[in-house]
Amino acid sequence: MSKPLLPRLIDEYAERFTTSESPELAALNRKTHLQRGDSVMISGHIQGALLQMLSKMIRPKYVLEIGTFTGYSAICLAAGLQEGGHLHTIEIDEELYDMAQEFIVKTGLEHTITQHTGAALDIIPTLGVPFDLIFIDADKSNYCNYYDIVFPLMPIGGYILADNVLYDGEVVLPPEERSKNARAIHTFNEKVKADDRIEHMLLPVRDGIMVVRKLRD
Ligand SMILES: C[S@@+](CC[C@H](N)C(=O)[O-])C[C@H]1O[C@@H](n2cnc3c(N)ncnc32)[C@H](O)[C@@H]1O
Repeated sequence: MSKPLLPRLIDEYAERFTTSESPELAALNRKTHLQRGDSVMISGHIQGALLQMLSKMIRPKYVLEIGTFTGYSAICLAAGLQEGGHLHTIEIDEELYDMAQEFIVKTGLEHTITQHTGAALDIIPTLGVPFDLIFIDADKSNYCNYYDIVFPLMPIGGYILADNVLYDGEVVLPPEERSKNARAIHTFNEKVKADDRIEHMLLPVRDGIMVVRKLRD
């Protein structure tokens, strides 16, 4: 899913001219690649830098992340939190908790980031705070459900970022050649496009990030 859509040399050039990863994020990236067969899911340097930058521009009080994996993007998104702000991140695979927590502690964010283990659709209704920045990065078949469940929890002016909306370029294939996940992502993109309560742009960075800003309830 993180196979670069840009030519490799352009990708490497972009990395070279992007602020370096912190030592902690670099160590987390390395450990994820060494220990996880599914390491392709990690946001990594370029997308992580973008998430940090967007979060610092938005200055959210509360952030929700759906899909923690090893914690890389949660740590990036926490970088822009207001004083006293908090990030909730949800992961269904309980085996990932310890690695994410190790690096949340190493970055001094243990009082700022709360990890939740379980299915996001069950946990989101229990959180009870308005989220001004939401990062959707979990099972593609539920993207539309995540959108519907988080939308009422956002104030006007709040943002949703949804990852993998180009799905390795599959979204531009003829419909019959798309995988199930690519079809789900395309349905999500259509849903966003049809929603007149928002403004949105598809940012073709890495695997594609849909940026949504809420205009009205
Ligand atoms: C692409 S990875 C997340 C990557 C992470 N955000 C990062 O950038 O490093 C997607 C994660 O979503 C988790 N996931 C899948 N279905 C889920 C669900 N229903 N609820 C919560 N997490 C889920 C997976 O176990 C996986 O770890």
